[in-house]
This record gives sequence, C-alpha cells and structure tokens, in this order.
Amino acid sequence: MRTKVILITGANGEVGHGLIEQLSSMKNMPAVLVLDIRGLEPAMKSKVGEVLVGDILDTRLLGTLISEYEIDTIYHLAALLSTHSEFRPEAAHRVNVQGTVNLLEVAIEQARISGRPVKFIFPSSVAAYGMPDLETKKKAPPVSEDQFTMPTTMYGCNKLYCEHLGRYYTHYYRQLADAPQRSGIDFRSLRFPGLISATTLPTGGTSDYGPEMLHAAAKGAPYACFVRPDTEIPFMAMPDAIRALLELAAAPRETLSRTVYNVTSFSLPAGEIADLVRAAFPSAEITFDPHPQRQGIVDTWPAQMDDSAARRDWGWQPHYDLQRAFHEYLIPTIRQRYA
Ligand code: SER
Repeated sequence: MRTKVILITGANGEVGHGLIEQLSSMKNMPAVLVLDIRGLEPAMKSKVGEVLVGDILDTRLLGTLISEYEIDTIYHLAALLSTHSEFRPEAAHRVNVQGTVNLLEVAIEQARISGRPVKFIFPSSVAAYGMPDLETKKKAPPVSEDQFTMPTTMYGCNKLYCEHLGRYYTHYYRQLADAPQRSGIDFRSLRFPGLISATTLPTGGTSDYGPEMLHAAAKGAPYACFVRPDTEIPFMAMPDAIRALLELAAAPRETLSRTVYNVTSFSLPAGEIADLVRAAFPSAEITFDPHPQRQGIVDTWPAQMDDSAARRDWGWQPHYDLQRAFHEYLIPTIRQRYA
C-alpha cells in the first residue's frame, strides 16, 4: 500500500512553514510529505509525516516518490526568488522551470495510477508583471491577470511560463495524440504580492525590503532600504497568503474560471512602511540607499493588483488590511520573536 500524503516542495521556505503549521492543525488531512533540498527545521518536524531531503531536479528521487506515496495534492513551493535568480539565471531556469516540469510529471503519474485528478497548487508572483515605465506604473489602475505580462526578471519569466505550462497541462496536454487523454492535473496558481511574515525572513527576493525593514528594527539593527521611499508595490501578510493557498486548493473545480488568480491585500510606498516601523520601534535606524538595478526591477512591478476574479470565483478576501497586518500581526509577533 502506498502512503497517502500531501506533497510540499520547498517546504523549508517561509511559505512552507506557514502552510505546514496550518495543515497540521486541520482535521482529516493526510500527512504532509516534505521535499526540500535543505531538509526541515527541527521545530517543524513533529508537524509533518515525513521529510525527504533532496532536489526536485533528481528524477530518480521523484520516481521513488511516485512509487511509495499516493499524492492527491502538490504544493510546489520550491523556487529561487527574484534577486538570487538574477545572479544565476540558468540555475533559476533549471530549478524554477525544469523543477516544475518534473513535479508536473509526478502529478501526471499519480493521476494515472489513482484514476483521480491531482491538484497542483503553484505560487506565482507579482514578478510575472513588467510595467514598461514608471509613468505607466503610476497611472495604471490595479492590473488584472492578463495585463502588462512582460516580466524583466528571470524569476518573473520563469513564473509566467510555468503558469502557462499549468494551463497547458490542465487543458491541452498531448492534444494531438491519437487517443488524447487528460493529464489528470488540476493546476491552480496564485499570483502573490510581496509577502511579509513576522516569524521568518525571505531569502533572495526583491520585495524583501518590506520584511527586512521590520525585522531589522525589531532586532535593533540599522537598515538601508534598497529602493526609493516613493516605491510602491502590493504586499500581503503571511497568514493571508497561507489561507489563500488553502482556499484555492479547496475551491470546487467548477467555480474556477481561470488557472491563475491575482490575490492582494494592501499597497504602500516604502517610505510609509518606514514610518510605520519607526512608529512601532522609535529607535529604528532606517535609511534609503537605492540600488539602481534592484530599484529598476521593483519599478516594473505594478503598484496594485486587481484580484476581483479570485473574489468572484472562490470568495477570496484578505483578512489583514494594512492596519491589521501591522498592528495585530506583524508588530506584536515580531516584538515577541526578538524579545
Ligand atoms: N517576493 C518575491 C521576490 O521578491 C516575488 O515573488 O522574489
């Protein structure tokens, strides 16, 4: 008998930790199988069924996984984020694109063996957008999923392409075969804004100035923000991001009119994040020292995303607006973390 599990790749990242916490508190859920190149932090281990330390590019390991486990949902979180990807674009392509294709193949095999669809939940990103210039960014109303999709980063290109792959595998897989068969993949993707967690720090992202500013202030460390104070992008508190993943996974297939949905919560300029942080931590030492290239990347990301499709189709709504995110979640939790 194969063991029934939910597979999470990249589970040791900050979204993974939040997702494991939530899944482990839910009733009647299969155990979580973790696949991460770094293993899993010891504190998280009791919350999952099993941990596989390994690479999503290791097809032999993935083969073992197919034969030993029964997987009906995959949260494919493993990725190199946008800043890291610019230093190693070819590695980013391998991890972000080939890694995703490998996991899609795991899903096809699982669906073939069980005769049931496999849900493939894929976090995409505001990085999938590319606003042509600052003037356009400033004037644009909240952008919907199909506007301005001309990313300028390797990570953004990788995410956008994988969104399309998911749509292809779900609806058009091997469409010219003599006896076309569905892939069995039920691909569902969320385009996230910058995520801010009170308990973990991201590694290698370009929206990280938000969380970095907060965590530095709470630790009593100085922080030089790498974008201008007027730089605006959308953000979301981590608990909302986790809930969005779980709600999208739980939505009845027939309610979903798309394979990719924007979700967002609040947008604000970096200078206003600094003001909120200084108000909470009066000794915070925040300066602005824009890095031209990283600034250039953030300038191509929209100031606001339109998430009306998610609201309409599966009832998405953020619980943490700006005030709640800072005053009820981020600031109190971060204070405790560094106390
Ligand atoms: N926050 C991510 C990054 O900056 C975008 O998804 O790379």
